[in-house]
Amino acid sequence: MPPVVAPSAQHVPHSRIRELAEIAMSMDGVFKLYFGESSLPTPEYIRRAAQKAMADGYTFYTENAGLLSLRRTLADYYRRLQKVELNPENEIVVTASGVQALNVGIRCTLDPGDEAIVLTPAWPNGGASVLMANAILREVPHPFRDGRYAIDFDALEQAIGPRTRLLIYTSPSNPLGWVATDEEQAGLLDFARRHNLWLLADEVYDRLYYRTPALGTPVPSILRLATRDDAVIVVQSFSKTFCMTGWRVGWLIARRDLARKAAELNEFIISHAPSFAQRAGETALVWGEAEIRNMLGRLKQNRDFCLAALRKASRVTVPPPEGAFYLFPRIEGVADSFDFCRRLLEETQVGLAPGVAFGAGGEGAVRICYAAQPEILQPAMERFVSFVNG
Ligand SMILES: Cc1ncc(COP(=O)(O)O)c(C=O)c1O
Repeated sequence: MPPVVAPSAQHVPHSRIRELAEIAMSMDGVFKLYFGESSLPTPEYIRRAAQKAMADGYTFYTENAGLLSLRRTLADYYRRLQKVELNPENEIVVTASGVQALNVGIRCTLDPGDEAIVLTPAWPNGGASVLMANAILREVPHPFRDGRYAIDFDALEQAIGPRTRLLIYTSPSNPLGWVATDEEQAGLLDFARRHNLWLLADEVYDRLYYRTPALGTPVPSILRLATRDDAVIVVQSFSKTFCMTGWRVGWLIARRDLARKAAELNEFIISHAPSFAQRAGETALVWGEAEIRNMLGRLKQNRDFCLAALRKASRVTVPPPEGAFYLFPRIEGVADSFDFCRRLLEETQVGLAPGVAFGAGGEGAVRICYAAQPEILQPAMERFVSFVNG
């Protein structure tokens, strides 16, 4: 028998967002709203910092946990914005992106055959990382109650089995824009403590928060409620807050034993994030606030513009999102969201992500990323609404 691709690798499904994107990338003139990124480039001050870092010699290997200077800057950032004390020596690991933080964090919590619960609809990469660890995925959808998404704690209790080791949630949520309340965060922490689970909070959108009197105030991190001895992991990224999607730099915060192992495993995966990109990340953390507030002003306008446009569409329901940069409208009568998105793309050149890509509770909806510039959003929304209205 010739060698085959390992069935356990085959078992990890292809991302259906990518599948749609691959069709879109073979076409010209597509309004690209399928990925979670802004159409604006990384701010100039960060690009200049990377050029300077290269000129200063940041072209060599760094520690597996990342440059200590970046970890110290991250500890300062958390002290300033979240009023949380972190030890940069052993509680912070720099990673080569948020998705790599997710992957290595999950790998450190699960043995083959263990189970992980994921609150869905969710960005598919968390669930795929569970499968890549040869573990079993249990999806628990967010119910929609009284005009907002919530957490079904009864369903969570029912999803627990003897091998459940991990609970993953994302707040602000991709794709829902849902933001966990303090009570919901406390409920998740209590649930994880009672069942001896690792609690992994994906907080990559924490700065993209609109339910606050002052734009720029982050969503309170789970780290405020948890102690440093809790089995808690936070996944983070430079991608969304600083428009650095192509740079591949993120970080992970975790209990010391897990953080140490994650740094060690980094050696075998990626060794560390690019040295000059890490250095530029320090500049972003220190000097980014004015730029972040500008971006949030624009995002909020975009969100409100898209919500107003969707009100003109029949058969569509969409709650106003409180965070991140997505709308997740449900379209009555759509049973196959991939087919819907493919037709929308082919007939109108508008590229959206199909709801089915986001797991249980996602089918019947589509995800619109509203981080694009108005010149792209306006025609795209017009075409989308007339397509839906038929
Ligand atoms: C919920 C969530 N987590 C993590 C990431 C990872 O971002 P990156 O790998 O670009 O740092 C993304 C990107 O879309 C995301 O939506």
